[in-house]
Amino acid sequence: MLDALEPQAPDALLALIKLYAADDRVDKIDLGVGVYRTDDGATPVFKAIKQAERRLVDEQDSKGYLGPDGDPGFVEALMPLIFGPDPDMGGRIAGMQTPGGTGACRLAFAVAQRAGVTKVLMGVPSWPNHAQILDDLDLEAVTFDHARPDGSANLDALLQALRSADANTAVLLHGCCHNPTGVDYSPEDWAAIANELASGNVLPIIDSAYHGLGEGLEGDVVGLRTVLNTVPEALVAYSCDKNFGLYRDRVGAFYVLARIPEQLDAILSNASGLARANWSMPPDHGGAAVRILLQDDVMRQTWLDELEGMRQRLRWVRERLGQADNEVPGVNLGALAEQNGMFAMLPLDKDQIAELRKTHAIYMAGSGRINVAGLTKGNIDKFIGALADVAG
Ligand code: LMR
Repeated sequence: MLDALEPQAPDALLALIKLYAADDRVDKIDLGVGVYRTDDGATPVFKAIKQAERRLVDEQDSKGYLGPDGDPGFVEALMPLIFGPDPDMGGRIAGMQTPGGTGACRLAFAVAQRAGVTKVLMGVPSWPNHAQILDDLDLEAVTFDHARPDGSANLDALLQALRSADANTAVLLHGCCHNPTGVDYSPEDWAAIANELASGNVLPIIDSAYHGLGEGLEGDVVGLRTVLNTVPEALVAYSCDKNFGLYRDRVGAFYVLARIPEQLDAILSNASGLARANWSMPPDHGGAAVRILLQDDVMRQTWLDELEGMRQRLRWVRERLGQADNEVPGVNLGALAEQNGMFAMLPLDKDQIAELRKTHAIYMAGSGRINVAGLTKGNIDKFIGALADVAG
């Protein structure tokens, strides 16, 4: 029976990791998969995480099962950061731990589907795995343009999609640092989105995977909080993989805003059942380290400083690219200085992307997405020169 299976192409983004590793040119540049890098090109474990892990090793006295919802202390410790001073909004918000932001997205889509959702509005381009998860669940993706050609957000396209949505539709929104474009909605845009959602029947699903890397921890949740303060119900997928640097430990959380507190148990019991059927229980280690870190004032401050350092470095890269606008005609590098987070889209075709790899040892996704964190003081001039070479 297994002969019936046709070979599948590997995930293009993850395949880049191997291609890059196999290249022995010393001045190669990795702008592929979304991991943060320091100005030395490293992806170190956060100091605050190391401290929390040491304490975890000392204090943990059992590896017994925690259950499909994971570590409730982790889930609750994140809530004030995400939802603000009234973190459960009068008893209407609760959540559970998931394997990374991907697990949280999967769970959000699957819970929405159980509630009757058949279509999901999605601005494109989006993180490629969003479409893959929807496809795997047999949910229909209804797409609209996320950004305009000038590099600004296409609010009208989203509002139009919301207005013309069929019954049983959800909308996927990136909370901040849009992946792959870096193009975020402004606070005024979010107010208009929340307004439209409040008057319609579309269920918001907010994916927040880069909290703290755009406008800062408070600025990056303005949109999410505006929506949650306005709509009756919503789902949130949250990732700690980037802002705590825990990528391979797979640390995420799924939250529900229920219409009334009495609905929460029913919704979460569905989520628990789906988690049990999918992965049974999330891995514990990284979430436990985040819990310990957030509950300790000293470690927490160390983490805040490290996160702010990352954000400032991403800003520096974006500003440097913006200054090079005139050096690379036709690519609109100027817009990158106005955008947020780890990613940006460059209007390059397949041949230009292949040329960057072959001639200049620069690796980026086939879509034209770059991870701006891969650029450093040591390689950014080479990158700008190579871009001018292939785009000119
Ligand atoms: C990315 O978009 O590069 C990251 O979110 C990593 C991933 O899992 O794709």
